[in-house]
Amino acid sequence: MTDLAIVARGLRKHYGLVIAVDGIDLAVPRGTIYALLGPNGAGKTTTINMLTTLASPTAGEAAVCGYDVVRQADRVRACIGVTFQDIVLDSDLTGREVLDIHGRLYRQPAALRRQRIAELVDLVQLGEAIDRRVRTYSGGMKRRLELARGLMTDPQVLFLDEPTQGLDPQNRVGIWSYIRALNRERGLTLLLTTHYMDEAEALASRVGIVDRGRLVAEGAPGDLVATLGADVIRVRGSGNQAHFVSQVAALPFVARVETDVEAAMVLVYVDSGSRRLVEVVGLAGGNGFVVEDVTVARPSLGDVFLHHTGRALRD
Ligand SMILES: Nc1ncnc2c1ncn2[C@@H]1O[C@H](COP(=O)(O)OP(=O)(O)OP(=O)(O)O)[C@@H](O)[C@H]1O
Ligand SMILES: [Mg+2]
Repeated sequence: MTDLAIVARGLRKHYGLVIAVDGIDLAVPRGTIYALLGPNGAGKTTTINMLTTLASPTAGEAAVCGYDVVRQADRVRACIGVTFQDIVLDSDLTGREVLDIHGRLYRQPAALRRQRIAELVDLVQLGEAIDRRVRTYSGGMKRRLELARGLMTDPQVLFLDEPTQGLDPQNRVGIWSYIRALNRERGLTLLLTTHYMDEAEALASRVGIVDRGRLVAEGAPGDLVATLGADVIRVRGSGNQAHFVSQVAALPFVARVETDVEAAMVLVYVDSGSRRLVEVVGLAGGNGFVVEDVTVARPSLGDVFLHHTGRALRD
């Protein structure tokens, strides 16, 4: 068996005239966390659907756990777990029933189901609530139950489609800690999709940035960000932006200048934000550009997205 848990080559999916996925290549090593980061409609769910055998590729090929997703779909299904973007739980059932039914679907014997449920309730900390009907659960509890269900069959590879969508910050951080624990303690390979750049940064050792069905950038979050420059000075203001941009771009220590038109923001990538701030802002005053707000920060994956697509990545 290969040391790659997930491989894809030229993966495509067309729905009539809509090109949902436009040739994606992936190579995810065993035991790592990979994030597909991109805006609405980028093709993240469609990619997951093909990798989990729920949709057949229009072209290209993919293998999960070493098995071809089309020709060996049963084998693939036996080695993976999935949680879906939209919560799909029968709210009349108790949490325990949801997990038990899932185990039965996979023909797990009763003793094994009981043992798995006990472990998983512990892992996702559902406690007594496991015997309550799902309709009484909060959004965070539902997501935790779905995570547990995805783990019932003890998968080697777990696919999580937007695992924290719609959750408040506290619940999101909770889910992140379960995801990390699964990876660290059980060596599970995880592929997750998200449109939150902080989620990709916090969890993934490698990130694929998806836009319009294609990977526009790929790599370790730190490396992707480092290619832009050490720091970014974000200047929001009004007036003659174009002139300001051309002035700033001519400064010797400026690596690149980009504009986020929607946010009326100029992004100035420099070697050191704290040392260069005064000079950059100073260029505004005399040039008909009125500065309203300035921040200095390390570049983010959102800046990487803007750099490659010319558009901002917004929730
Ligand atoms: N079954 C389908 N039939 C037709 N078009 C589809 C179908 N599924 C997805 N699409 C289209 O394919 C594109 C990619 O959709 P997809 O759901 O994969 O994006 P996504 O990255 O998961 O978006 P989101 O962040 O909103 O979940 C979209 O334009 C979508 O409308
Ligand atoms: Mg989606």
